[in-house]
Amino acid sequence: MKPLALVTIFGVAAIGWLNAQTPNHNTTHYEAEIQALLDAMTLEEKIGQLTQISNHFDITGPPPDEGENKIRYDLLSKGLLGAMLNITGTENTRAIQEMHLKANRHGIPLLFGLDALHGYETLFPVPIAEASSWDLEAISTSARITARESAAAGVHWTFAPMVDVSRDARWGRIMEGAGEDPYLNAQVAVAKVKGFQGDDLSSNATIAACAKHFAGYGFAEAGRDYNTVDMSRQTLHNVVLPPFKACVDAGVATFMGGYHELNGVPVTTHAYLLQEVLREDWGFEGFVVSDYNSVKEVASHGQAADLSGSAALSLQAGSDMDMGSLTYHYHLQELVASGQLDESVIDQAVARILRVKFELGLFDDPYRYCDAEREKRWLSAPEHQEAARSIARQSIVLLKNEQELLPLSRQNRIALIGPLIKDKDNPLGSWRARGIDSSAVSIWEGLQSAWPDTRWSYAKGCGITTGARSFRDRLTIDYDTSGFAEARRVAAEADLVVLALGEDCFMSAEARSRVHLDLPGVQQQLLEAVYEVNPNIVLVLMNGRPLDLSWMDERIPAIVETWFLGSQSGHAIADVLTGAYNPSGKLPVCFPRSVGQLPLYYSQKNTGRPGDENHPHIFWSGYIDERTDALYPFGYGLSYTEFTISDLKLNTSTLTPGEILTVSLTLTNTGNRAGHEVVQLYTRDHTGSSTLPVRELKGFQKVFLEPGQRRKITFELTEADLAFYTAHGKWEAEPGRFSVFAGNSSKADLEAEFELAAPR
Ligand code: NOJ
Repeated sequence: MKPLALVTIFGVAAIGWLNAQTPNHNTTHYEAEIQALLDAMTLEEKIGQLTQISNHFDITGPPPDEGENKIRYDLLSKGLLGAMLNITGTENTRAIQEMHLKANRHGIPLLFGLDALHGYETLFPVPIAEASSWDLEAISTSARITARESAAAGVHWTFAPMVDVSRDARWGRIMEGAGEDPYLNAQVAVAKVKGFQGDDLSSNATIAACAKHFAGYGFAEAGRDYNTVDMSRQTLHNVVLPPFKACVDAGVATFMGGYHELNGVPVTTHAYLLQEVLREDWGFEGFVVSDYNSVKEVASHGQAADLSGSAALSLQAGSDMDMGSLTYHYHLQELVASGQLDESVIDQAVARILRVKFELGLFDDPYRYCDAEREKRWLSAPEHQEAARSIARQSIVLLKNEQELLPLSRQNRIALIGPLIKDKDNPLGSWRARGIDSSAVSIWEGLQSAWPDTRWSYAKGCGITTGARSFRDRLTIDYDTSGFAEARRVAAEADLVVLALGEDCFMSAEARSRVHLDLPGVQQQLLEAVYEVNPNIVLVLMNGRPLDLSWMDERIPAIVETWFLGSQSGHAIADVLTGAYNPSGKLPVCFPRSVGQLPLYYSQKNTGRPGDENHPHIFWSGYIDERTDALYPFGYGLSYTEFTISDLKLNTSTLTPGEILTVSLTLTNTGNRAGHEVVQLYTRDHTGSSTLPVRELKGFQKVFLEPGQRRKITFELTEADLAFYTAHGKWEAEPGRFSVFAGNSSKADLEAEFELAAPR
């Protein structure tokens, strides 16, 4: 897009907002200003506020003369839109805003939204990677920097965080969230919302956040994207909703629906979710945007007979803004005219959208986010890149390290093999906002710069995909094995091989479900070929979902999970491989032994027939051909040092409602390197009116200790922390026996017990 051309075509627009009555902000929620606007707006203008479009047409060229693009263009040039997505850059956003405001007689600015999930131009680790850091401050920092860069480039609103709990590695979008656990997801979600929005939404360094996809999307059947979701009220309230509720409590400005149906109702029209839960129970005052085109898809789901029905059901249920489908634009006027829809429903949705625009400060100055100087100053700023490196290395999970292969020794002759060694693009991950293609630091570059005097040998071995690769491309898997011979030769001459394998980064995210959790293409064959000539392998993985690493776990001495770490990937990986940084990441999701175990998660129910692999009878809840537990469990990750956790103590054996249970323990670094450990606290509620999981994460602390150092760690639990959605449909704790487990993974084996007393 050539922004200057736009400015010349439309001229320096007459600025509508200046002519409009400037609202005065003397109420917290801008009620008077909003009412004044509603009183002055026509129905058509109101519907415009509920309409969001993407820039499908070439906005710098001549206006399109037919089809939907003409309609979109007309809406923009007539000032009849509420928001646009994917318009970025100060010049573009300014030019579009001017064009819109010139025609909008009330001076209502457009909102510009973007999927800035893990960075804008500086890219941070993809969300599942970042969650592996279990470092909430770092996660908040990455969101703050993402906001600062996005806001500097004219963007007001990010479609993040995605807080969908997911337990199915087949689902490509598992990469976009914080994994399988509701508590961890909620903590990460709050860190992100606070990072994006800061204390003041109207600051030109913060942007509005969006909790998505409300709700249950991570439970799409068989891990197939857009698929049906069917779950109990218990699972909905205990597992899926807590991260969304945490976002509301943290003040998130907006929510997004999803593409799926939940228990027979498309979420776009889900009145129980959007009215009862979100607005009535939780008191959410922001607005809800549909997912892209999902208003239209209500008819495809089979809930509405036609698109007019889709529009009516969606708006009435509480989907305030129609992203992309123009269904509100086409049908709401007629629905009001025919008496099928009350205009007050439209007014309510418009009010919610206007409120967010006021809060962003856009009525004071619609160009407050358009400052070319700030854009130049902040995009890829050195301090942002530094933060990206620091968060990236914290996100790496050491899965296995036998024979002390890691950290690497300079004495060894090291071969660097694999398609991801010199790759500068895949590490950026999918949903890369305005990250520059192939701009990541590769592993090769990272190691060269860490140890410049070392001679590394290299062979690519094979590729992963060939041809065009992007969010929109169908990927073509690369099956070429012609590089194997060279890889074997290089491996045979080395003492040790660092082998970098994994997925193409566009194999995860939307519409990227897989049924095989293996290394795509011929990479497994390459691994076996190299292993045959040199088994001293450090396997460095990049992937957007848990893979089945059973073969590797049996044979490969060292395995490092890096996910996709963003712009500074290679430096971060080099920091860990060379020992400059002691790995501290922990898995936010179980790694299965087989795809057949999915969905797999640590906080499963006991069942009536619990057991383990050594169970004496065959009639227990397991498999006859595989273990039931994970290969690498939730919360697991190694360090180059050793930690022990001991002295688990409770301050009382009976927790009385209103009082505090203090759990204390001692963490000791018994190894010979400084490092971080993530101490994790789980509970089990042994009896409930509805059944509860065998373990639930209730707290964690990431602690740094020097070798030999020990520290007393305490956690506090109250009755509220033990509450759940009971069989009576209430969120409350039930008295009875509880266990507490402490450790450094979900397998935590220190245990203590207490009673929760009945309320006095
Ligand atoms: C569809 C995705 O489901 C959603 O997460 C995203 O924010 C929108 N498209 C906009 O790109």
